[in-house]
Amino acid sequence: MPNTHSTPPCHIAMIGLGVMGKSLTLNLLDNQFNVAGFDINKQHLSATSQEAQQLNKGTFIACGELSTLLNTLESPRVIALSIPAGNVVEHVIDDLLKAGLEPQDIVIDTGNSLWTDTIARETKYQGKLQFFSTAVSGGEQGARFGPALMASGSAQAWQSIKPMWNAIAAKVDSHGMPVPPLHDGEPCATYTGPSGSGHFVKMVHNGIEYADMQLICEVYHYLRDAIELTPHEIGDIFTQWNQGVLNSYLIEITADILKQQDFSTNKPLVDVILDSAGQKGTGTWTAINSLEIGCPTPTIAQSVYARSLSSLKSRRLIGAQCLKAKTQPVDKTDLPAVINELHDALYCAKLCAYAQGFDLMKATSEQQNWQLNFVDIAKGWRAGCIIRATFLQDIANAYQHTPELDNLLFAERFAHQLENRQLNWRKTVSNSSLHGIPMPGISSALSYFDSIRCETLPANLLQAQRDFFGSHTYSRIDKPESDKYHVEWSQSPRIEVKR
Ligand code: 6PG
Repeated sequence: MPNTHSTPPCHIAMIGLGVMGKSLTLNLLDNQFNVAGFDINKQHLSATSQEAQQLNKGTFIACGELSTLLNTLESPRVIALSIPAGNVVEHVIDDLLKAGLEPQDIVIDTGNSLWTDTIARETKYQGKLQFFSTAVSGGEQGARFGPALMASGSAQAWQSIKPMWNAIAAKVDSHGMPVPPLHDGEPCATYTGPSGSGHFVKMVHNGIEYADMQLICEVYHYLRDAIELTPHEIGDIFTQWNQGVLNSYLIEITADILKQQDFSTNKPLVDVILDSAGQKGTGTWTAINSLEIGCPTPTIAQSVYARSLSSLKSRRLIGAQCLKAKTQPVDKTDLPAVINELHDALYCAKLCAYAQGFDLMKATSEQQNWQLNFVDIAKGWRAGCIIRATFLQDIANAYQHTPELDNLLFAERFAHQLENRQLNWRKTVSNSSLHGIPMPGISSALSYFDSIRCETLPANLLQAQRDFFGSHTYSRIDKPESDKYHVEWSQSPRIEVKR
């Protein structure tokens, strides 16, 4: 369709100018792209127009109709949706089709959609439009000044989108460290492969995010209740940890939060916030996915459960009254040693959470035949996203060194770290247990570690139990695994038969 406007054609349209859509739009304008915007909420549209005007970069065209929006775009048109996940994606696409969308036009879903919905949508819209997806991490500030982008869909569509996404994404320098907005560097815009894979990778990112946050909160809980430090003192510990192997955005913001006083009471802000965690569901999707595919991610799943348990505040109030604890106080005479134990426990548990997330990506990549590139994914998370951390460069190096790595924990560098820090991790789990401080994330990670390095698990007994009550059979260690055996448990004398 011809561009009937006197204004320059737009490179991209943004539908949905809420917090994320507006920020992505301003970021695109900052990078000299022309953007056409549409939102059914007229206030969103005018707010974006105003901010775009102040920016005085690129051209922003506010459109009141989808047909006008389509006319402002060069062909093939690129239209990004920044709208809530769910059926609304289909509704907007149907409206775009009615307004004149053409088969070569590209529609990008930038919401937090469920990856299986994304795959279904690509199939549904084949021949009508090119359906593409880009998961965005980094919240409002990230979207505005440099998000991490996880793009997936046809390789051909990616070629049209890539220059824009590379320009607006967060960047890292040659050492893998984030650079300020609008500076040159390696962009954290990763093309993950076929349809749905980008949203899947973002879902796992969020699962890891849940675990990362939970692990930090457990350390805080211990330092607060067992060691009796103030939030400010704990904030100082996190600030110090942020200089070392734990350096990450989440540690940095936690230190900042813990030093913040409440605006009305002047108590530490954290003390006046209700201890009931919210969630939008991506962590739960990760846990469900891992259960469905049989790839254990216990630390991620425990982090979801921990949020659910926290939200049962009234039940916990009853529990606090009627369930009396028998505990042993922690020996805190050597405070630096205790803090060091916690540091190592956090590092090891965090490593396990990442190993679980990468393992889930490996299993699903094989199942879906995506051939996910873990070096690219780890590199793409080094800046812009919520789990950004210097540690991600180590992960990228590990996969670079051994692309077929079976589990991240087996990488020489990490196996060595786990060996060195393990005793401190064990002491932390023992002490928290003796003191009655829940550590579902840190302790589940330790069980994961101990299971994964255990040559013989008691699943032999479990198989016998299954055979006893349900004739489910078992394999023998001295015969091929495919040969199945059963004991006639109720007969006397008992005999073993091959099934
Ligand atoms: C990101 C975040 C983001 C997420 C929020 C809230 O990468 O920018 O993961 O996508 O939606 O952090 O998530 P919960 O409400 O589930 O905590």
